[in-house]
Amino acid sequence: MKAAVITRYGSPGIIEVRDVPMPVPGPDEVLVRVHATTVNRTDCGELLHPALIRMLTGGGRSRRTTLGLDFAGTVEGVGAATGLFKPEDRVFGMCPIRKEGAQAEYLCMSETGPIAAMPSNLDYEQAVVCEGAFYAFPIIEHFAPRPGQRILIYGASGAIGTAALQFAKDRNADITAVVSGRHVELMRSLRADRVVDYSTDEFARLGRDYDFVLDAVGKLGIGRWRRWLKPGGVFAATDIGPGAQNLPLILWSKITGSGRVVVPLAKSGSGQAFVTRLKGMIEAGRFVPVIDRKYPLSEIADAYRYVQTGQKAGIVVIDVVAA
Ligand SMILES: NC(=O)c1ccc[n+]([C@@H]2O[C@H](COP(=O)([O-])OP(=O)(O)OC[C@H]3O[C@@H](n4cnc5c(N)ncnc54)[C@H](OP(=O)(O)O)[C@@H]3O)[C@@H](O)[C@H]2O)c1
Repeated sequence: MKAAVITRYGSPGIIEVRDVPMPVPGPDEVLVRVHATTVNRTDCGELLHPALIRMLTGGGRSRRTTLGLDFAGTVEGVGAATGLFKPEDRVFGMCPIRKEGAQAEYLCMSETGPIAAMPSNLDYEQAVVCEGAFYAFPIIEHFAPRPGQRILIYGASGAIGTAALQFAKDRNADITAVVSGRHVELMRSLRADRVVDYSTDEFARLGRDYDFVLDAVGKLGIGRWRRWLKPGGVFAATDIGPGAQNLPLILWSKITGSGRVVVPLAKSGSGQAFVTRLKGMIEAGRFVPVIDRKYPLSEIADAYRYVQTGQKAGIVVIDVVAA
């Protein structure tokens, strides 16, 4: 089968699309013929694999040869001890990071892992939606906004931001999306209540109006988000922020149990329940995939280069079936 292969960490230029042996499913696994996958920020981080982590984990050789989390495809075969899926089922989900990834024509997944029947109203290229949503969901669950409570989502145009906006809207929160001018229409289409272009005076004038603030892109300094939170408000981020400035506040929030400054993550083992829930939301029209652009597997290195720019809106799809 064809796969996007890395044998060491580095820039997108090291990725080779070449023939590798087909994976064989274990007794509790299903073999999936991948129709579509993505390149996302998690993949870019793993490809670069920062120097400190390289030193700690023993040099620059990659632990796995194929990256890729999101997949959508069909079940091709099942292990002897499985019972949840059968050949030809359309499935979607996320590959665990400790296994060979989804940027390949086939993959094996534990049938109790993050895999579920594909939403019936999507095609394969739209169904590679899990990664950003998986990170966004525990954040909005941590906020647990009541109808009408005010959330500001900074950087709402990325994979995590577009998903967070939709989960918050699903709870009838009142959402201000802060994005660049080129993403304003996208935010309106996702039903943000207010859209603010971060290059305008309107952004500079934002006041202390928010119960929750989410920095979905890890770019906000403390001086900014503190000015927007009402007393008792909660701040969440997708990482430790510029110069790790959120880190002491996250630790203090943890030590005191206040939950006021947080990087909420999904519970271990919750993947299949999450993917199944997302399927239901998509079929009910409560969550829509936001797709930026598409590349064939043969041009996956270009997809990595584009995602590394930090400018994608939503998801970058890899069509694995295209020649
Ligand atoms: N918690 C976790 O486990 C986890 C997992 C994955 C990723 N992350 C982190 O989460 C962050 C977001 O991930 P993602 O996949 O959603 O990213 P993404 O899809 O690559 O986000 C790109 C979007 O961010 C916008 N953006 C870039 N710079 C911005 C700025 N200064 N202010 C506001 N918006 C800006 C871009 O639009 P414009 O350029 O037009 O503004 C673009 O639409 C990353 O920083 C990543 O490190 C965390």
